[in-house]
Amino acid sequence: MSLALSAAVPVPLGDSGLVVGPIGWGMWRFAGTERPRARLLVETALEIGCTLFDTADVYGHDADGFGAAEQLLGAVLREVPSLRERMVLATKAGVRPPVPYDSSAEYLQRCCEDSLRRLGVERIDLFQIHRPDLLAHPAEVARALERLRGAGKIRAAGVSNYSAGQTETLTTHLAFPLASLQPELSALAIEALSDGVLDLALRRGLGVLAWSPLAGGRLGTTASAAAARERRVLAALDAVARRTERLRAAVACAWVMAHPARPVPLLGTQSPARIREAAQAFEVSMTRAEWYDILAAARGEPLP
Ligand SMILES: NC(=O)c1ccc[n+]([C@@H]2O[C@H](COP(=O)([O-])OP(=O)(O)OC[C@H]3O[C@@H](n4cnc5c(N)ncnc54)[C@H](OP(=O)(O)O)[C@@H]3O)[C@@H](O)[C@H]2O)c1
Repeated sequence: MSLALSAAVPVPLGDSGLVVGPIGWGMWRFAGTERPRARLLVETALEIGCTLFDTADVYGHDADGFGAAEQLLGAVLREVPSLRERMVLATKAGVRPPVPYDSSAEYLQRCCEDSLRRLGVERIDLFQIHRPDLLAHPAEVARALERLRGAGKIRAAGVSNYSAGQTETLTTHLAFPLASLQPELSALAIEALSDGVLDLALRRGLGVLAWSPLAGGRLGTTASAAAARERRVLAALDAVARRTERLRAAVACAWVMAHPARPVPLLGTQSPARIREAAQAFEVSMTRAEWYDILAAARGEPLP
């Protein structure tokens, strides 16, 4: 039996009505790009079937300032307004430098309005809480999300970097179902497979957006200083890449996508050529044995 993937089968994000392509594109590294290239990146992502575009108000903070990545996407959308209809636009709020996290209702409301202004859109499709704010009561977070949705400013809500328990707790306070969660997930970051987050997604039918599917690039290139565990993961991915005659980065995405929760890997590359190469993930048909070999390498020990 093999784990085959299809570009043609879209992924629903919970009961929100949002449906996205099986691979998404992330804009953490987007700020600082010239506008013509930014437009090319967006168009290339759409070309390969990425319809989910994941940004955050804080992206670009280190380089060009808070809001820079949203501003750049907004500039692209103002230049080619028709792109907006082709994408599911996701952003995040609640990280507030230099204070790490703020999910107070007042702040989330302000963030959403600022994001709408920077992006130049009337509604955000998926508004995500970027990281859990341990000082914000989930009931307060829920009220803020309900108000934003009631005012038509967001279509759906999701969480990012929430534990399964934190997600469940927010869900119990929220008057509408959450659409998605966003854990780190790659062949080097496998916690979500066993910490209850993907189990919760399966139980509640939530969409899963997998951040850093190439572990921030460590699975794309081979660093000479890579640790033993990382080298074993790369070797296991390379074995599948050789057999299927596809690129290792595509195999790494295919590995993430093979889980039954149907995680949507958020590609982080800022290279149009590499975005196109990622579409090879749809041509990787992995056997169960190969998938579990990669997992065993990631665990650093044989499976029990
Ligand atoms: N929720 C959160 O807290 C959180 C945290 C981190 C990320 N994210 C989301 O996840 C997205 C992706 O994160 P990421 O940028 O770390 O993702 P990634 O896809 O794991 O890594 C992308 C990086 O890998 C490099 N790379 C090296 N070899 C590559 C290859 N063969 N193919 C493609 N890329 C290669 C890229 O460089 P080039 O650009 O030169 O190709 C880029 O710097 C973000 O944009 C964001 O939307 C969310």
